[in-house]
Amino acid sequence: MIERDSKVVSPSYTRGYPLVISKGSGCAVEDVDGNVFLDCAAGIAVNSTGHSHPAVVQAITEQAQRFLHMSGTDFYYEPQVRLAEELAAIAPMAGGVKSFFGNSGTEAIEASLKLARFATGRQNIIAFFGGFHGRTMGALAVTASKTVQRRGFGPFMPGVFHAPYPDCYRCPIGLEPETCAAECLDFIDHQLFVHLVAPDEVAAIVIEPIQGEGGYVVAPDQFLQKLSELTKTHGILIIADEVQSGMGRTGKMFAIEFSGVQPDVIAIAKGVASGMPMGISTARASLMAWPPGTHASTFGGNPVSCAAALATIKLLKDQLMANAAAVGAHLIAGLKALIDKHPLIGDVRGRGLMVGVELVKDRQTKERASEERNAVVTAAFNRGLLILGAGKNAIRFSPPLVLTREEADTAIRIFDEALTEVERRR
Ligand SMILES: Cc1ncc(COP(=O)(O)O)c(C=O)c1O
Repeated sequence: MIERDSKVVSPSYTRGYPLVISKGSGCAVEDVDGNVFLDCAAGIAVNSTGHSHPAVVQAITEQAQRFLHMSGTDFYYEPQVRLAEELAAIAPMAGGVKSFFGNSGTEAIEASLKLARFATGRQNIIAFFGGFHGRTMGALAVTASKTVQRRGFGPFMPGVFHAPYPDCYRCPIGLEPETCAAECLDFIDHQLFVHLVAPDEVAAIVIEPIQGEGGYVVAPDQFLQKLSELTKTHGILIIADEVQSGMGRTGKMFAIEFSGVQPDVIAIAKGVASGMPMGISTARASLMAWPPGTHASTFGGNPVSCAAALATIKLLKDQLMANAAAVGAHLIAGLKALIDKHPLIGDVRGRGLMVGVELVKDRQTKERASEERNAVVTAAFNRGLLILGAGKNAIRFSPPLVLTREEADTAIRIFDEALTEVERRR
């Protein structure tokens, strides 16, 4: 299968290990050879309700039997309206919101950037180092994750500025988390706004409340609160990229809710429809006032994906968000308990079932253990645990939100064994 793939599929994909799935159920994945794996990757934080949750499959089946497509940009249908109503009910913004429907995270970002420019009449965008927002040309311009993602594709959309992300484990200005008052925000206020771009020409600041591809780095609440104050002073919009951190994964519907900050626009994708393609830009209704023809997508808001999203949101609200909070706390505690045993672990962090473990060669110097990280991911795979790397040297646990305590314990045990194997080899 892998050999056939190599002949006909784009080699730009990043496959970390040779898994060829045959079927999945809950947190279990079976490969074509009959090996069963515990899935703590969830198709990159997508299978929020587990593989093929019966309620989601039923919703998809019923909708598929009615109609598959009608183009929500040209016609009306109830699943899209109902999903927009549901999003209006769960969006952490006061006042009305409206939603634009696309098919992927990058389209959600693309729509959000276009809306920010259109609604403010301003051109510039501020984003953060380490941020990943997608691979289409606008989203790629704000992405500052790995150079391999940008190399060879420039020039990019102009008017984009990057600022340091508040990575407390590696504080860009050497402060301790306990005493941090979000001083790294000064870079935007006292460097960017003084030397490079006037704040009244900035349309939006796009931020992941928890960086995903960047290494599962959690922005402190006080940072987001001060960022919100700064943007309000200058009439700048906040676009919360919740593509990875949203839809219940952190134990709240959206990660930004921990800070109490209300964004102006939220980009949603990945877990929203349990694996069906869906990307959404949800914005304050006062902003989403662009006239017919300004933005649209043939497949966006596909009725089958809408049905999957409605079933997903119901499951999240009924049980899975609470499960993510409880089992996530258990997983984080179990991984933290490994710190004393494994010198490779530099940091364990996260919220709910969005958990990152950063590996270092040395705890004092915090030198990044990138090769060791890759070796641990492979050693875990060989033992039946699916995890993925994030950033240069972190490992992410982003399981389906149906993960049980027992499955979390299994994941911790296998991870422990994988670390032991790699540490023994050093
Ligand atoms: C935070 C974030 N934004 C945007 C994207 C892009 O999503 P997609 O791959 O669906 O285009 C990703 C994908 O990993 C992401 O993690």
